[in-house]
Amino acid sequence: MTTTTVTTTTPTAARVVDAVKVYGSGDTSVRALDGVSVDFPVGRFTAIMGPSGSGKSTLMHCAAGLDTLTSGTAHIGDTELSSLDDRRLTLLRRDRVGFVFQSFNLVPTLTVAENITLPLDLAGGKGDPEWVDALIDVVGLRDRLHHRPSELSGGQQQRVAVARAFAGQPDVVFADEPTGNLDSRSGGEVLGLLGRTVRQTARTVVMVTHDPVAAAHADEVVFLADGRLVDRMESPTADKVLDRMKAFEVPS
Ligand SMILES: Nc1ncnc2c1ncn2[C@@H]1O[C@H](COP(=O)(O)OP(=O)(O)OP(=O)(O)O)[C@@H](O)[C@H]1O
Ligand SMILES: [Mg+2]
Repeated sequence: MTTTTVTTTTPTAARVVDAVKVYGSGDTSVRALDGVSVDFPVGRFTAIMGPSGSGKSTLMHCAAGLDTLTSGTAHIGDTELSSLDDRRLTLLRRDRVGFVFQSFNLVPTLTVAENITLPLDLAGGKGDPEWVDALIDVVGLRDRLHHRPSELSGGQQQRVAVARAFAGQPDVVFADEPTGNLDSRSGGEVLGLLGRTVRQTARTVVMVTHDPVAAAHADEVVFLADGRLVDRMESPTADKVLDRMKAFEVPS
């Protein structure tokens, strides 16, 4: 069964519509997403910002098909995720979505080169060798290809994770606090890399962060508070984002 393609003027790499996520039930239930609708356009680097507990990771996990919504819909391209059975969802995550996590999540026994092509190997193919080769230069790891992750700095490890996320030319790469474990210089390199990859290859990145400096690398910032989308900002700067965030702070 295939879904019909609907032509829209602005193609969307990923979106959620009326997304509600409730964890648990009864007195202890938490409404982590409270009716969020947001789209992530193709070729754009979007940052999701908001205070701790505002639902950023939940939104990312549900948009990426790592978790399911309580109500509402999540879409990758034109595919509505709840219409997929487990097998198709696994294939979609493997073939159309890339992930970068705070903790790098590299396989320690594999070399840099093997880590980068791991998703392609799991898919039983070689992908596009020219794309992978170009990616190695974009992330600046050509002279480290035969090293193990333990022989790399944190920033270098995260650059491997970024290359791995893009290796299969996914529709969208989701990154949850990708610079959370890095010092500001390595973090800046990884953010610059994400931005360059989006702009040079017209790929789509959605990044969760609570750091205004990190958010300023994005084309647009969407702000969450208490599980709701409260604002969007085009062409963000760290100062503008910081000012917007201050408005959320609860006086203690
Ligand atoms: N698996 C879970 N079970 C129960 N509650 C959860 C679960 N995951 C998240 N929550 C709750 O949902 C709300 C949103 O959590 P989420 O992790 O999405 O926030 P966040 O914006 O990513 O926060 P942070 O900046 O601290 O990472 C929080 O109140 C959190 O405690
Ligand atoms: Mg989080």
